Amino acid sequence: MNEIKILAIVGSLRKESYNRQLALAAKELIGDRAVFNLLEYRDIPMMNQDIEFPAPEAVKRVREEVKSADGIWFFTPEYNHFFPGVLKNLIDWLSRPVSDKEPQVLSGKPAAISGITPSMAGTGLAQDHLVTLISFLNMNVMNVPRLTIPNAAQQLDGDGKLALTVSYPYLEKQANAFLGFIAKQIGK
Ligand code: FNR
Repeated sequence: MNEIKILAIVGSLRKESYNRQLALAAKELIGDRAVFNLLEYRDIPMMNQDIEFPAPEAVKRVREEVKSADGIWFFTPEYNHFFPGVLKNLIDWLSRPVSDKEPQVLSGKPAAISGITPSMAGTGLAQDHLVTLISFLNMNVMNVPRLTIPNAAQQLDGDGKLALTVSYPYLEKQANAFLGFIAKQIGK
């Protein structure tokens, strides 16, 4: 079956991350309309050109996951008005050519961006920096709609989990738009 494959990349390694919970909400919302996986990358090392070739196993694995995805959906926190260093480190690894015969794996991939924060900021500044980076890497960014969710604490259930009350329709709108954006580009 010619299913769309979406890979979610969460810019937080925290177990209870709001951004991870947002990614899981997107997965549930998309349901059987696409294969939706979360990239696990806490085991990739810090970029160091001394260990770049041959690529560490963990780096090979994340590159393969990105390569086989039809679209990448970033869910990023905001750290000091930027996206977190763990995400920059991951993207730095992904940005390098696989070999002299194979280019980097991000080029041309459709990308969507969402973010959630407990503050009033909404992650817009972090997202803008991420757009600058992934545009440089020739990703195909869906700029409209992007999703910025402030005041995460106002959307929790009794157990402190993200319930996404007021933001749910916006997530739905973005998910539908991204499925259409990917389908248009890859002809699925
Ligand atoms: C933050 N946080 C934060 N929030 C924000 O809205 N704007 C910001 O500039 C920052 N800066 C910042 C710097 C650092 C170093 C940390 C650790 C945190 C708070 C941040 O949004 C909050 O911890 C979120 O819960 C992180 O996202 P996850 O892990 O819940 O997905």
